[in-house]
Amino acid sequence: MSFMDRIELICGDITRLDVDAIVNAANRSLLGGGGVDGAIHRAAGPGLLAECRSLGGCETGQAKITKGHRLGASWVVHTVGPVYRGGNEGEATQLASCYRESLALVAGKRLDSIAFPNISTGVYGYPKREAAQIAFDVVRAFLGGHEFPRRVIFCVFDEQNSAIYRDLLGLGSD
Ligand code: APR
Repeated sequence: MSFMDRIELICGDITRLDVDAIVNAANRSLLGGGGVDGAIHRAAGPGLLAECRSLGGCETGQAKITKGHRLGASWVVHTVGPVYRGGNEGEATQLASCYRESLALVAGKRLDSIAFPNISTGVYGYPKREAAQIAFDVVRAFLGGHEFPRRVIFCVFDEQNSAIYRDLLGLGSD
């Protein structure tokens, strides 16, 4: 099976996906926020925040895993993307690390499926196309060398990201 057969694009709310793990675009406190972070905490319920309090935060580019609590997904991978400051402060390396560390955590648990939001492209201001290219390149390289996860879902939440990922994945226009 080629790596492209293992990548899917879904446009919608990541908290509603029936996958083993969803990725949260968190901040370093891991204590919740707005955007997808807020949506995940709302859907998961207070037990997620309680578990996150025990993690002691997370550095940019790193990832930590918790249970999914009331979410359909059994696991939440919390990763902290870089705040985009022009692109000359190592942001690309940090963003790539978010995807790689998240994949490594689910591979270590031999999970079947993981869904990513577009990390750092909201509040953190990362240009969407550059961020998508980094995400795609890291996922392609990781799947080329690992059996798990079997499936990677890019969960886009807006038309612009949807068009960018459709182009990247060679899915053409709607
Ligand atoms: N499902 C899927 N994607 C979503 C959802 C959702 N329910 N809600 C938002 N998104 C998308 C946004 O449209 C954006 O494309 O997630 C992407 C990431 O945007 P943010 O959530 O703003 O995350 P980020 O840019 O990484 O900024 C992280 O924002 O919410 C705070 O606590 C968080 O401080 C941290 C910062």
